[in-house]
Amino acid sequence: MRIVLANSVGSVGMPAAVEAIQSDRPALDVVELGIRPVELDPGVRSVGVGGWPNLLGEVELDASIMDGRTLRTGAVGALRGYVHPISVARRVMEELPHVLLVGDGAARFAAECGAEAGETLTEEARVEWEQWLERHIPADVWKRWPDVPLAAWARLTADPETAAGTTTFLVQDGRGDIAAGVSTCGWAFKYPGRLGDSPIIGAGGYADNRYGAAACTGMGELAIRASTARSVVLYMKMGMTVEEACREAADDLRSLDRRYRGGVTIHAIDAEGRPYVLAVDRDDVTYWVWTEGMEVPERREADRA
Ligand code: GLY
Repeated sequence: MRIVLANSVGSVGMPAAVEAIQSDRPALDVVELGIRPVELDPGVRSVGVGGWPNLLGEVELDASIMDGRTLRTGAVGALRGYVHPISVARRVMEELPHVLLVGDGAARFAAECGAEAGETLTEEARVEWEQWLERHIPADVWKRWPDVPLAAWARLTADPETAAGTTTFLVQDGRGDIAAGVSTCGWAFKYPGRLGDSPIIGAGGYADNRYGAAACTGMGELAIRASTARSVVLYMKMGMTVEEACREAADDLRSLDRRYRGGVTIHAIDAEGRPYVLAVDRDDVTYWVWTEGMEVPERREADRA
């Protein structure tokens, strides 16, 4: 069944994704075309341009994409200076023998590919970063910033409001092919070099035509520890419905020893394109879905666990 499933901030990309799937574009294209407008929208504070910077005031972007036909995948982490990490992740998948590039290597590859370079730190995000530092960092430390140990300040950034965000797209096209994509700036004012779940295949995203796909938003450290996206797909392989699989993965998440508050939202589709979204320790989560026959995408409320 043709379907596009995106998380709440994916609304900006739904029109492009729906147009692409109605034009019979492959699932991978639909995922990439859906995520690109979200990456460019400075109003989406957890993705791409306008995303929150790290403790040093630098925006580091993460993204991954996965092809459910072949289980091929590509990802970038801590990419600086490029506005479409999802497209760079796709080029990693298509042009390299690797699946994940980070930091300077990812930026070097983005340049080689002719990816769109650009400023990702907006004035609004820069001001918020400065205000956060002013609120939390004592004047004597601030004078030496950033030549100070950062770990203590990184611990203060573990706030469920800003350790969240991300955009996820799951697509099944008219040929039955499935793809998953995820893009994020990670959590606000994170330790430099921190990667969340989004570029980690099996944690933030996973797709397998035979069983379905899953992608996560929220506190990525939890989804990494529980291998959430791959677990959902594996549970479907073992015979669970998409809802049962998400609930089993939610149990995995809730069994983790947690030092910081935060939750995860699991977005999933099965091999027939049936969607299910479960918010684990998060309130008021919505998502977007378009399926065959709908004139416009529908906004729906996630179930809660
Ligand atoms: N889920 C996005 C992140 O933790 O970076």
